[in-house]
Amino acid sequence: SWTMEGIIDQKVDQIRREVGSRKVILALSGGVDSSVVAALVHRAIGDQLTCVFVNHGMLRKGEPEMVEEVFREQFHMPLVHVHAEERYAKMLAGVTDPERKRRLIGTEFWRVFFDEAQKIGDVEMLAQGTIYPDIIESGARKTGGKAATIKSHHNLIPFPEGVHFDLIEPLDHFFKDEVRELGIALGLPAKMVWRQPFPGPGLAIRIIGEVTPEKLAILKNADAIVREELDAYNQRLFEETGDRNSEHACWQYFAVLPDIKSVGVMGDERTYQRPVIVRAVESADAMTADWAKLPYDVIGRISSRIVDEVEGVNRVVYDVTPKPPATIEWE
Ligand code: XMP
Repeated sequence: SWTMEGIIDQKVDQIRREVGSRKVILALSGGVDSSVVAALVHRAIGDQLTCVFVNHGMLRKGEPEMVEEVFREQFHMPLVHVHAEERYAKMLAGVTDPERKRRLIGTEFWRVFFDEAQKIGDVEMLAQGTIYPDIIESGARKTGGKAATIKSHHNLIPFPEGVHFDLIEPLDHFFKDEVRELGIALGLPAKMVWRQPFPGPGLAIRIIGEVTPEKLAILKNADAIVREELDAYNQRLFEETGDRNSEHACWQYFAVLPDIKSVGVMGDERTYQRPVIVRAVESADAMTADWAKLPYDVIGRISSRIVDEVEGVNRVVYDVTPKPPATIEWE
């Protein structure tokens, strides 16, 4: 609409004035906010912006490819894809405590990111997809300490010693639905703009216990099936009701891999393999949530596809706990 175009023009002017001729860097995660801010800042200053995508190996199936496809192929942005998969795998070996996992992954993320900023050289600004609710949540503006802290998955992490960037946060007056609208107007694909919330530490916190390559492979494959089936389910609901909201009725859904094995049977053979937990919730804001009352045939299809298609899995269970008392994630 003309209003969205008007807002974009205004933001573009503002960003150009703020940035001048300086170089800007942005940590691209493939999430909604960082993707929209990347598209917007790129529209304003073109190749003065470099996006750094830190691939820690714990993203969902197809996500790194989508980031490449959208930002490199479609938008032709300068994009640095940092393959940190092995670095992370080594770092996480033997780590089982959820908080320790989160901390290690977050700290390492910024270390890798600032290393890349150094390599690019003369970077003076950091663009961030901070949106209005983030500011309310963190209270970060209370002290006016804009350049002192950066948003990191609900936490504020100080810049390393001697590092300084001026922040540019062009979405900081927008709500989530406005950010999505902006993203569509900027030409981002719907599946990116409507991406579900996904934790910064990624699949690491959906693997209970130690993260190993074997467990990661199982979870990626099982999770892809859950998402495929429930994307289709949401789509069917939308077609039946014509209501856009029901397209996202089942709000967040994914697979979780617990750290146990159970006995099963396959042909004449006893198996001793992993179960997969399916988590699907309805929620408005993630503060509270209810488990999704999925039709049995949908649950059944997810189950049979997972045990048929994912090697090493002999059982599927469905999590029927609301939040509270459970959380949406398992770690
Ligand atoms: P919980 O598990 O606390 O999750 O009910 C609430 C919502 O937040 C997401 N989540 C995260 N998002 N970084 C994020 O950006 C994180 O570390 C993180 N942990 C949980 C979760 O997926 C759910 O939507």
